[in-house]
Amino acid sequence: MNTESVDTAAVSLPIGVFDSGIGGMTVAREIMQQLPHESMIYFGDTQRCPYGSRRLSEVREYAIQITNWLLEQGVKAIIIACNTATAAALDHIRQISPVPVIGVIEPGARAAVKATTNLNIGVIGTQATIDSGAYSQSIREINNEATVFSTATPRFVEIVEAGLRLDRSPLEDFIAPVASIYVRPAFQEIARDYLEPLKRCNIDTLVLGCTHYPFIAPMISSIIGSHVNIISSAEETARDVAAVLADRSLLNTSSRRPYHRFATTGLDLEDFRLLSSMVLGMTIVAPEQVSLEYLESLGDATAVSEVLSTYSESATPIT
Ligand code: DGL
Repeated sequence: MNTESVDTAAVSLPIGVFDSGIGGMTVAREIMQQLPHESMIYFGDTQRCPYGSRRLSEVREYAIQITNWLLEQGVKAIIIACNTATAAALDHIRQISPVPVIGVIEPGARAAVKATTNLNIGVIGTQATIDSGAYSQSIREINNEATVFSTATPRFVEIVEAGLRLDRSPLEDFIAPVASIYVRPAFQEIARDYLEPLKRCNIDTLVLGCTHYPFIAPMISSIIGSHVNIISSAEETARDVAAVLADRSLLNTSSRRPYHRFATTGLDLEDFRLLSSMVLGMTIVAPEQVSLEYLESLGDATAVSEVLSTYSESATPIT
């Protein structure tokens, strides 16, 4: 086989991105902006969302199933655009995947360490992410003098999901104050209760350790204080994706129009289509539905090796 033709085929393959639902689109959108020539397959496990209240072992199983599904579709890299799934499964998925795998925790930790000046960093995330200690560990690996204050803010996922459904207007910029989705006053009370203790910790940087949270960054900022840097890992993750693809000679620089596919386990495809279109600022046509039954069939060890052998026999990408 001619090596050059294999490389060309690999370069034009899509990137696979997944999350428990639509939160990962904050990362997908940043990747699309930074890497406009890359095609993408986005997978939202909406039917099993939220992940944050589940055991890490359960989330790891889901992440393996989705990884196998994405590999079946033929992707050249996998982005775990979900902090909970990154905490639960990044190391494992890296071991089983023949293509590069990038999570969102290390990029978020790195961005926070870059931004802080007093080394007091707050982290908010789902219960599973905070309990895993993955952010504290990652931040301290980068700078062991940092002090990390972590708080689980599980209901923020529900606030975002509800806000997006109530709003339905296009979102220009997640971090811009004007683009905040609608948040009910009762939800603002919940947010105050969550964030009040963090205000007493003299943090100058707060990591949004859940890919859903950038949608409510303005509300979070208004409670925690405008002097606190708000960190979303999306930008830094997209930079990592670019660096990893460039390093493996997988970066697509062709001027051909990329294609994007959207898949979900959710039962309401129209709801998924509308929310995706709104978040990504583009019209999404015909998202695909993947049944849980099929996904589960990809989850056991035999299925993993079957998928991998099919993958390595096909015209694959990785050299
Ligand atoms: N977006 C996911 C994350 O980054 C969490 C949402 C959920 O609980 O499913 O952790």
